[in-house]
Amino acid sequence: MNKTVKLFFTGTALFTANLLYAQNTILLQVDKGKDTINKNIYGHFAEHLGHCIYGGLYVGDNNKKIPNKDGVRLDVIDALKKLKVPVLRWPGGCFADTYHWQDGIGPKPKRPSMLNVWWGNVKEDNSFGTNEFLNMCEVLGAAPYLSGNVGSGTPQELSDWVKYTTHPNGSSPMPELRVKNGRPNPWNVKYWGLGNEAWGCGGNMKVEYYANVYRQYATFMTNWNNSDKIFRIASGASDDDYHWTEVLMKEIPHNMIDALGLHHYSVISWSKKGPSTTFTEQEYFTTMQRALKMDEYIIGHKAVMDKYDAAKKIALAVDEWGGWYDVEPGTNGAFLFQQNTMRDAMIAGATLNIFNNHCDRVRMANLAQIINVLQAVILTKEEKMIVTPTYHVMEMYNVHQDALMLPVTLTSNDYTVGNEKLKAVSVSASKDKKGLTHISLVNIDAAKAQEVVINIEGAGFKLVSGRILTSDKLQNYNSFENPDKIKPVSFSGAVLDGSKLKVTIPPFSVVVLELK
Ligand code: AHR
Repeated sequence: MNKTVKLFFTGTALFTANLLYAQNTILLQVDKGKDTINKNIYGHFAEHLGHCIYGGLYVGDNNKKIPNKDGVRLDVIDALKKLKVPVLRWPGGCFADTYHWQDGIGPKPKRPSMLNVWWGNVKEDNSFGTNEFLNMCEVLGAAPYLSGNVGSGTPQELSDWVKYTTHPNGSSPMPELRVKNGRPNPWNVKYWGLGNEAWGCGGNMKVEYYANVYRQYATFMTNWNNSDKIFRIASGASDDDYHWTEVLMKEIPHNMIDALGLHHYSVISWSKKGPSTTFTEQEYFTTMQRALKMDEYIIGHKAVMDKYDAAKKIALAVDEWGGWYDVEPGTNGAFLFQQNTMRDAMIAGATLNIFNNHCDRVRMANLAQIINVLQAVILTKEEKMIVTPTYHVMEMYNVHQDALMLPVTLTSNDYTVGNEKLKAVSVSASKDKKGLTHISLVNIDAAKAQEVVINIEGAGFKLVSGRILTSDKLQNYNSFENPDKIKPVSFSGAVLDGSKLKVTIPPFSVVVLELK
């Protein structure tokens, strides 16, 4: 073999070796950050559904068995404070468009009951109402997001709710009612939803009709001062319904709207959702396909919004997202109680990376739901309480809240099942106010570890540390018997070599790194 041919083969071998061992690459541009990751991307959602409110957040003022303050569980408050919940949406969901807020104020024995028609026809005694919710948000340090009844309410009813909660004393009968109910000063309620899923449970409206209804309701929701005005969120599209977004962007005057909603659930099929713990790899893969669709949907809705609002004044609020499976065997089918495994950690990690990377337009998101319902961060059983793998991901990622998003360019290996493939690795990065850089990485591959080479531009770092959430089985979960089976531990799989950071991420794991 002559020298030229030999060099050619040596080069090819080296090139092949590189492809085998360094296919996952990330370019991290530390000096190119432009947009802030709004902390409200890490928001939550609490609906009067199953045991989200009753038994989850609230156990009643007279409960002697479960430690509480004004009926709100102290163990839950403690866990949620660690999560730094920035915003909490309430009271629904579908429930919101059946809810008449005045039924949930004043002395509890006098509050009327209703049937919760969407969620099992159970009796709703209205013992957890506006005052209880808003006081709880103050304790949590979370901004309340009230979802108004547009489906079966009236503009007057919603306008009165704004006045009851936010207007100063003496300005109208509503603030007087608030004072009578023991709350002299207004609460700080900035975020208001005008209906929920108006295309479905919120009234089965056509978008052209809803746009008009929105304009009418928005007109009578008044600001209580000019500096921190009401933030109005329209009931948004489901999945890829770009027409819904287009009509709202076109038909609603932009001074009447601050955000458009978007709902997307990671559900295998609405008629056959599959079990939450005993799923197959194929079911896992399909769930992840659905979860990663979030990126495509956000890109699609952003493109429509950009056409009408190039300055990005109007935010996209993904105010319901998460995994949806069959309920746990033996539980009420209408209560949507499901376990939470490493699959849910993968959904959470990958989805939050998507939100971070789209933070120029996505400025709020609300995981469905906070306790005991769907992809919950907390599960309760009488006096017991556990946190789920999803909780741990939300906690690990809270370093990104209000940090400057750093652009990343990713080349990822495929995670293949049968003839289908997904990107195995997902990533987002940010720089916080203290100057610390954080990188969150997810490897969704069910079997293979991923080696990732991160090329760092625009800054030099000396130290890397991190935490990992992983387990030996994808189907593993925390139970009331074994509550700490899955929890983050310190991570030693990252090596800094000048401007290169090499990371080995085990299968189905979430890693958050800190660089300084
Ligand atoms: O989160 C459960 C339900 O899903 C909500 O009530 C509704 O908005 C959505 O369809």
